[in-house]
Amino acid sequence: MGSRLTLDECFNLDPQTAKRLYSKHINPALMNIYRSLGLANMDVESAEGMEILLGDGTSVLDFSAAIGVVGLGHNHPRILAAERRCQDEKILDAIKVAPHKLQGALAHNLAAILPDPLSVCFFSVSGAEAVEAALKICEKAQGPKKTKFITTSNSFHGKTHGAMSITRSGGFHRGFLMGIPQENVIEVEYGSLASLRQAIESPPGSGPGNDIIAFIVEPIQGENLSEGAHGYLEAAVELCRGNNILTIFDEVKMGMGRTGHFCSFQAEDVVPDVVTLSKALGGGKRAIGAMVSTPELFERAYGSRQDCSLHTSTFSGLGSSCAVAIEALNVYFEEDLLDHARVQGEYLRSQLESLKDIHEGSILELRGRGLIQGIRFNFGRHRFDNMIDTSKMGVFKTVDSAFMASVIRDLFERHHILAHFAPSAPDILHIMPPLIVEKEHLDRFVDAIDDILQRGFIRTAGDFLKGNFKDLLGS
Ligand SMILES: Cc1ncc(COP(=O)(O)O)c(C=O)c1O
Repeated sequence: MGSRLTLDECFNLDPQTAKRLYSKHINPALMNIYRSLGLANMDVESAEGMEILLGDGTSVLDFSAAIGVVGLGHNHPRILAAERRCQDEKILDAIKVAPHKLQGALAHNLAAILPDPLSVCFFSVSGAEAVEAALKICEKAQGPKKTKFITTSNSFHGKTHGAMSITRSGGFHRGFLMGIPQENVIEVEYGSLASLRQAIESPPGSGPGNDIIAFIVEPIQGENLSEGAHGYLEAAVELCRGNNILTIFDEVKMGMGRTGHFCSFQAEDVVPDVVTLSKALGGGKRAIGAMVSTPELFERAYGSRQDCSLHTSTFSGLGSSCAVAIEALNVYFEEDLLDHARVQGEYLRSQLESLKDIHEGSILELRGRGLIQGIRFNFGRHRFDNMIDTSKMGVFKTVDSAFMASVIRDLFERHHILAHFAPSAPDILHIMPPLIVEKEHLDRFVDAIDDILQRGFIRTAGDFLKGNFKDLLGS
């Protein structure tokens, strides 16, 4: 118990108090990680477009886009106008006993954008919830005789019980029961048709005929930015269809124009049975996701009066969230952001290729496309590759994480650029700016990486240790 803060006091919290409250009431261990990355003291005043503005006047270039949420940049004027309109017109946000017109309208717009027959939507408030809805619609439609899902190695689909049980990266299941028992989940090698075929034709522990409900896959993997060879998705869907297995493409991270297509799977001539979207769908302001399926699948799963409300949720499709998502989608197309992402992505790749040539040995590989790209650094462990399999040894992952943390800290402190990496693939720096990024921002980012590589990882890591030491003394 204690005294409550007013909204005014909350908006004006000093950085030290803000840090203390987060540590005490939210997550102290996570706070320590932010501290070691040099990000705990960020005294954010406001954010606009590509920039986060700090209290001391520093402008930070956002190359992480809240891991995909901020597709249109911070506080896009048309998103703010949509929010304002909802408030000025006092729109009805929540109604649970009658249909909301904006839900149907948003679903209509998504259907207009996505390839046929993807046209029936369930709105969630998160990506994991969209994945849950996808698993459930497939399970219900396939009936009780089918009991298994196929997932891929290194996948990430969220941290709710069901989504976590088909996630394979990051060890996120540590200490939890699995929502879907693991005997009901088959893992195949990501990108390998042979592995998928084998799982379908001779699934472990099954009798004749397959009992597989659906195959879920990220068209580009969000953690390590791997993708299958061109044609993988098309062949996988064909193989699944031939065996009465449904397909779910999880586009929560890669969708919404990031790769230069609305969904990343649209680089191929293929349509799955279900697509999941979220993150940037809410224009950076609203928590909303979508599970989009087909009329035929919806009819099979929830088509009867008895079953039509088997999968619903309280906050599904609030009026303002739908309004903002409708406007976000319109901005993507009216401002040609898909083409922009493709063109800027190509420019970024050409600059990164040049950097790779200059710093031969420090950059092992470039991954991704459009405005989700990754630089795989060589922090030194590959020197041991012909003696041992370093990828399987935790100690090397820890060393990679420490080097990558030093790169993130340096980017922030010396270059005022915010970037991130996935701890499950700690040698890959993610480049994920809002889609409004311009050439000059990309040049600034590439110059910063060039500078870090010229100084060398060892010196950057030395500065990192010094910075952490100072933080420890100061806290
Ligand atoms: C591919 C993918 N699926 C699902 C999720 C889960 O989304 P959320 O964190 O909104 O639950 C994520 C989150 O990063 C994701 O990248």
